[in-house]
Amino acid sequence: MSKTLIAYFSRTGEQYSVGNITKGNTAIVAEIIAEKTNGDLFEIKVANDNYPNKYTSLVQFAKEEKQRNARPAIIGEVNNINDYDTVFVGYPNWWAEMPMPVYTFLEKYDLSNKKVYNFCTHEGSGGVHANDFAIYGHTAQKDKEQTEMQVAKWLNSIGF
Ligand SMILES: Cc1cc2nc3c(=O)[nH]c(=O)nc-3n(C[C@H](O)[C@H](O)[C@H](O)COP(=O)(O)O)c2cc1C
Repeated sequence: MSKTLIAYFSRTGEQYSVGNITKGNTAIVAEIIAEKTNGDLFEIKVANDNYPNKYTSLVQFAKEEKQRNARPAIIGEVNNINDYDTVFVGYPNWWAEMPMPVYTFLEKYDLSNKKVYNFCTHEGSGGVHANDFAIYGHTAQKDKEQTEMQVAKWLNSIGF
C-alpha cells in the first residue's frame, strides 16, 4: 500500500502581495496535494518561533538566517516515516532559497529511498530547483480554482 506524506513550511501573518493571512500560501497548496493524493500532512514548525509577523522584518530575519546557514530546531515528529514511499516537500521561496527549517527537516529524516517531490510558492522567482512545482503565493491565497487546476495538472504529470 503506497503512502504519501506532505511536509511543508509556511507562515501566517503579513505576507507579500496578500496582506495579513491566517493560512499560509504554501499551506493551502499542501492541503490540496494532501486531498488529491490521500496523503498525510506534516507542518515543519520551528521550536522557538521568533519569526516576525511584519513582512519587512521577516525578510531581514530570514536573510540573516540564510547567511548563517542556520538549522533552527523543529518540533513534532513524523510518525513512521519508513511507511511513506512518497514525500512532497513544500516551501515558500525565501531569498531564492528554501527556508532554513526545511533543511533541518531534510537532514533529520532519511528520504533517500523515497520518491521526493518539491513544491514552492513564490512571488516571481519560481522554485529553487529546476523540477520543483512552483505557483505564485497570491494565486494560492486568492484563486482556489486556478490553484487546484495547476496542482492537479502537475500531479497528473508525475503519475498521480
Ligand atoms: C523572507 C521572505 C523572503 C522572500 N523571498 C522571495 C524571493 O526571493 N523570491 C520570490 O519570488 N518571493 C519571495 N518571497 C515571497 C514568498 O515566497 C511568497 O510570499 C510565499 O508564497 C510565502 O509563502 P507562505 O505564505 O507559505 O509562507 C519572500 C517572502 C519572505 C517572507
